[in-house]
Amino acid sequence: MTQDAPDPSGSAPEPPAPVSATGGSGVSRRGLFGIAIGAGAAAVAVGAGAGATAGVATGRGRERDAAASAHDFFGAHQAGITTPVQEHLHFASFDMMARTDRDDLVSLLQDWSYAASRITKGLDVSATGAVGGSPEAPPDDTGEAQGLAASSLTITIGFGPTLFETADGVDRYGLAARRPAALQKLPPFLGDDLDPDYNGGDLCIQACADDPQVAVHAIRNLSRIAFGRARLRWSQLGFGRTSRTTTDQSTPRNLFGFKDGTANILSDDQEALDDHVWVSASDGPSWLAGGSYLVARKIAMLIETWDRVRLSEQDGIIGREKGSGAPLSGGTEFTEPDFEATDAAGSPLIPEKSHVRLAHPGFNDGTRILRRGYNYVDGNNDLGRLDAGLFFLSFQRDPEHFVRLQRALSTDTMNEYIRHVGSGIWAVPPGAVPGSYVGAGLFA
Ligand code: HEM
Repeated sequence: MTQDAPDPSGSAPEPPAPVSATGGSGVSRRGLFGIAIGAGAAAVAVGAGAGATAGVATGRGRERDAAASAHDFFGAHQAGITTPVQEHLHFASFDMMARTDRDDLVSLLQDWSYAASRITKGLDVSATGAVGGSPEAPPDDTGEAQGLAASSLTITIGFGPTLFETADGVDRYGLAARRPAALQKLPPFLGDDLDPDYNGGDLCIQACADDPQVAVHAIRNLSRIAFGRARLRWSQLGFGRTSRTTTDQSTPRNLFGFKDGTANILSDDQEALDDHVWVSASDGPSWLAGGSYLVARKIAMLIETWDRVRLSEQDGIIGREKGSGAPLSGGTEFTEPDFEATDAAGSPLIPEKSHVRLAHPGFNDGTRILRRGYNYVDGNNDLGRLDAGLFFLSFQRDPEHFVRLQRALSTDTMNEYIRHVGSGIWAVPPGAVPGSYVGAGLFA
């Protein structure tokens, strides 16, 4: 199937003008260009950055301030995992379209990698970009990020279980034998209230940035590039990070008003990253070594109900003080909780069914995950209540680690105030090396 093939849904947007008509090889022109850029090494990426000036000077598309807060798309691991958590999220789940073949999938990943390597530098998706192409054709880039900085944008791409084998067992792309054994649809959990509109997906893209328009521009343009090959299945906007991934980031707050991310895995804790986040060569499969598994859970928070709960009870539900974030056993935010400590009556200071106790590694065989979620508000319902919550995102070496924690949370007193409405899991390949594209190892 070529990119120009009709979209059976009739709903996909028009493709960017020069988009990769897939050639006989199945490798698109844009994909090839992406590889060439990568092969040019950092040189080209930097060249593209420097091209912020060159591009303008030569009139080859208006290019944005590439120098400010740019994260390299290429690297041993994909950016957007240990990267200092940005303030905004646009998350998108995609399905491959009917009648696409393996070449379409490869060309899509090449095209996405090429575009991602540019927009994370603060550039348009292609050299001609938003205004440098033919006036008689729709521009390659939609243009709303012109003049905006790179804004710490990261693009993280994942592969869902259905990419390897559909629910009815069809191996569309010859990948079934390469599927990681651990990559299975998440099991049902007690209290799940999943909405099929926020579930699963063949592919996902997590776009995080410090400017919401930059994150939205990324998903909008990557969706457009996918024209004829993949289409959006569901997506989510998030604001206000609910975690930290570096020591110097302050701990933000979630919509319950509590500090969130205090006990997260941080980017300078190499041992914890190796033990709990990165898939190792011995975990297998080899194409996933250096990658991770991404779990997304859209968790609605019944905030109007929560807001009627007295402060001491809120503290007890979380197991920490709302103001300082300190464990109820005492100390400051980063004091290790003492689950043995009791009050004069012999009751534990940190309640047994509090969130932090149930989720703590000490009660879960040492299990830890890297959390990277965002707050969301999707308007309100008919009763005038906010449709709000936490778009929970976690990265872990083994999906079983998330499953273990989520099962442990089945008696969490917080469950009265939350509903899990969306869910998905994806294998996140290691980062692309310059000259290649994300997921190349899967097709080697
Ligand atoms: C709306 C849903 C949730 C809210 C509001 C929430 C909130 C919090 C808060 C306030 C903390 C304490 C501060 C911190 O260490 O970050 C915390 C810790 C934690 N949460 Fe959640 N959380 C939610 C869902 C989940 C889920 C679904 C999981 C995993 C299945 C999870 C796993 C953890 C872990 C592992 C910790 C750290 C425990 C520790 O080591 O002390 N949370 N969460």
